[in-house]
Amino acid sequence: MNRPANTSGYFESHTSENKEPPLLLIMMRLNIKVALICLLSISTLTILVLYSVCGNTENKNWNRLSSKSFDLSIPEEIDCDINGEYVIACRKEGDEVYLPFSFLHKYFEIYGKLATYDGLERFEWSHSYSRVYHPKSKYDPRGVFMYFENYNVEVRDRVKCVSAIEGVPVSTQWESQGYYYPTQIAQFGLSHYSKNLTEPEPRRKTIEDCDKEFAKWSVSPTAKLENAYDKKLATNVLKFKTSDSYLDGVHLKLDHVLYFVMSVDIMLSSNSSFTVTLQNRETKNIYYLHYITSDIWITSQDNNVYHGIGSSQEWKKITRDLIVDLQKGLSFLDKDKSKHKIPRSKIKIIDITLRGTGAIDNLTLSSSEHIQQFYNAAEWFVQHQDPETGGWAIPVKRKLASGFHDLQPGWYSAMSQGHAISVLSRAYHHSGGDIRYLTAALRGLKPFRVPSTKGGVRATFMNTYHWYEEYPTTPASFVLNGFIYSLLGLYDLISISPPGQAEEAELLYNQGMLSLRNMLTLFDMGSVTSYDLRHFTLGIAPNLARWDYHVTHVNQLLLLATIENEQLFKATAERWIGYMSGKRADHN
Ligand SMILES: *[C@@H]1O[C@H](CO)[C@@H](O)[C@H](O)[C@H]1NC(C)=O
Ligand SMILES: *[C@@H]1O[C@H](CO)[C@@H](O)[C@H](O)[C@H]1NC(C)=O
Ligand SMILES: *[C@@H]1O[C@H](CO)[C@@H](O)[C@H](O)[C@H]1NC(C)=O
Repeated sequence: MNRPANTSGYFESHTSENKEPPLLLIMMRLNIKVALICLLSISTLTILVLYSVCGNTENKNWNRLSSKSFDLSIPEEIDCDINGEYVIACRKEGDEVYLPFSFLHKYFEIYGKLATYDGLERFEWSHSYSRVYHPKSKYDPRGVFMYFENYNVEVRDRVKCVSAIEGVPVSTQWESQGYYYPTQIAQFGLSHYSKNLTEPEPRRKTIEDCDKEFAKWSVSPTAKLENAYDKKLATNVLKFKTSDSYLDGVHLKLDHVLYFVMSVDIMLSSNSSFTVTLQNRETKNIYYLHYITSDIWITSQDNNVYHGIGSSQEWKKITRDLIVDLQKGLSFLDKDKSKHKIPRSKIKIIDITLRGTGAIDNLTLSSSEHIQQFYNAAEWFVQHQDPETGGWAIPVKRKLASGFHDLQPGWYSAMSQGHAISVLSRAYHHSGGDIRYLTAALRGLKPFRVPSTKGGVRATFMNTYHWYEEYPTTPASFVLNGFIYSLLGLYDLISISPPGQAEEAELLYNQGMLSLRNMLTLFDMGSVTSYDLRHFTLGIAPNLARWDYHVTHVNQLLLLATIENEQLFKATAERWIGYMSGKRADHN
């Protein structure tokens, strides 16, 4: 599409993980050599598909091959004049003309691939590539968020790493140094909450708990290790002290291939570290994951990856997906991220080493720790909210498109606020009523009241309809998907709040819903949807939503249709689903 890749906020608000790669890419990857020619019956624009598998170059072998496969008719080469602008090579067979699929793919932005069923090959044509999720039941704010159980936020390339200080992702989307992006952190939290409800129970192996499970640590003569009672915590912990040389430490040999999510209660003095050694079972390459007393997010050198766990010398629990940590570390110095996707099945944990001075407890390896990761996100929102404004600031500049003023570092997003409220509402519910989560969620409503021109997120369409802006630009941009996510946050809060506490959220939700009802069809472009209303506020061409976003619009409407008795949402969603298979609005 002729749009800069980053201008649309695509990256945090759609389903990139579960979408299939564009079909043509699959074709290319499989390196299928096809001469794929489509029959264009010129008067009706009905396109039939005919294909044939060739040897090397499509053109040279066409005649030889097709004379083998189609005895009767041998396609001739013919020039195709495209709108009088340029000419491409086509084929003619009798009265029919065949165009190369690669041309059609680009021209119409449609997708296709060869597939085999029961030994029979056929060509599959698709107008779009995204997936519609039909809700099975009424949306429940205590349940799965949208279809986020399919999200895998931390493996995205635009996530620099998961901070071992906060246990939440660090984004590089708009700034390569990395920063905490509230929308991304919320999606991380919501995806783990949703996975907790949909995935199999975690399997967990306790390595050391100082009470029942004792690991066989090996201690060099210069090091000390003791299982000692910690009075303050009223529990036994494993204290260690090794020599200053750092050459030796306290080691635990392992040969573990099953579970790669590590959790440990840990306290490290300065210059101390906790190291996990991994081995690639195939190449035998060895990698060291060091968790150190430092405030750096991540750095790496050769086969050593370092994550800081912060420099305060207090007990903390860290939960690490070791495979994610390894891959983030390996891609840290190397921009070719795809190179480092080592599958879990190839990795083995072979050692854990403690160096310096510190103590650990409750060291486990699990198949997953979704609830812990969810709470890391919820805790982040409690800790990093501006107590005055109720906002979670986005610390980097954002340029939505030319014509809009830049958003300066420190801006608030209605999508971040709404997503954060969705996380905090679930944390309030799941924790059995921990008031800190409710307080933060209620405070998070404040920017919804403040106009976007005054540092809030509220825009007003034609002096009438309130809209909560994902990007509070001047002039207003009216991004649809971010607005609906903000409404979901409000709905979540209304649903979980104790009686009488959510009046403000209700007012904001009702005002937003009124705007959505009245403005929804402004986004309908007759064969696609628009991502925002810049065509209105900037007086320029519409910013059409790519299919990921289009399907996000559809999925959001289908979800809203389960909670709002509103025929418009259902009918609009159905029409928009039609666009995904090439249907268009009627013309005169
Ligand atoms: C989900 O969280 C509960 C605790 O609320 C836990 O008992 C359960 O094992 C978790 N399941 C998964 C799949 O994470
Ligand atoms: C940590 O190590 C560095 C370099 O070896 C040293 O200069 C520093 O004094 C050490 N700090 C502490 C608190 O031991
Ligand atoms: C280890 O887990 C036990 C049981 O949950 C807990 O009581 C103890 O405080 C934990 N240890 C540390 C150091 O946090």
